[in-house]
Amino acid sequence: MIVNQETGTRVDEVADGIYRISTPMDVIPGGFTFNSFLIRDSEPLLFHTGWRKLFPLTVEAVGKVMPVEKLRWIGGSHFEGDEFGALNEFLAAAPEADPFGSEIGVLTSVNDFASRPARGLKDGEEFSIGSRRMKWLYTPHVPHGWDCGVLFDVTTKTLLCGDLFTQPGADLPAVTESEVLSASEGMRGMMDYYAHAGSTSGILERLASLTPSLLACQHGSAYRGDGATLLRELANTIESGNGSRSAAQGAAMQE
Ligand SMILES: [Fe+2]
Ligand SMILES: [Fe+2]
Repeated sequence: MIVNQETGTRVDEVADGIYRISTPMDVIPGGFTFNSFLIRDSEPLLFHTGWRKLFPLTVEAVGKVMPVEKLRWIGGSHFEGDEFGALNEFLAAAPEADPFGSEIGVLTSVNDFASRPARGLKDGEEFSIGSRRMKWLYTPHVPHGWDCGVLFDVTTKTLLCGDLFTQPGADLPAVTESEVLSASEGMRGMMDYYAHAGSTSGILERLASLTPSLLACQHGSAYRGDGATLLRELANTIESGNGSRSAAQGAAMQE
């Protein structure tokens, strides 16, 4: 459902009670999408606030699903503008909501930025938002950010995987059953957004062991299918060094 004709901001239910709010933007050639995920439950949760300047669009979209003041959890994968930029605007609109992030993210950034104290989640910590259980997994430097983590909805097996599998393009379906690895490797060819930490494969294997059936990407389509296989293919691609760092980038680094 398009909620704003001018910007193309849309809301789609991508899993039971999980709504993808997506705004296309022309920040790179071919366009790009910024997605937030709203999980409807007795304690509704918003994963990624979107950029501060997109707040009017994101809050309008939330309002199409539920009253924004009912939000109880507002957080994100790691501290960047697209994950946390509109946090204070959302906290003002939702007085009972608690901000959350990884323990280290809250320590280094979120508690300095946020207008209310945030909850720092420990690796492996689980919490209930009503009928469903959420699990936080700390994924430092994967794909980037010391504070990086992802959130898993144990109930629907949806992995809110942040910047993993980022795909370029503005006009993408909300959900696809075609693999998204090729497209996300194409993105990495344009701009390598990975930290290339030594722990990358182990962290991806840990995410694969959750056997997610939906990968809810912050940029691009959500992938419905065998998430474990796709995560392992990503690990193999990185491990083999094939990645898609472009020849141009490689050449530039050699100069
Ligand atoms: Fe990021
Ligand atoms: Fe992002």
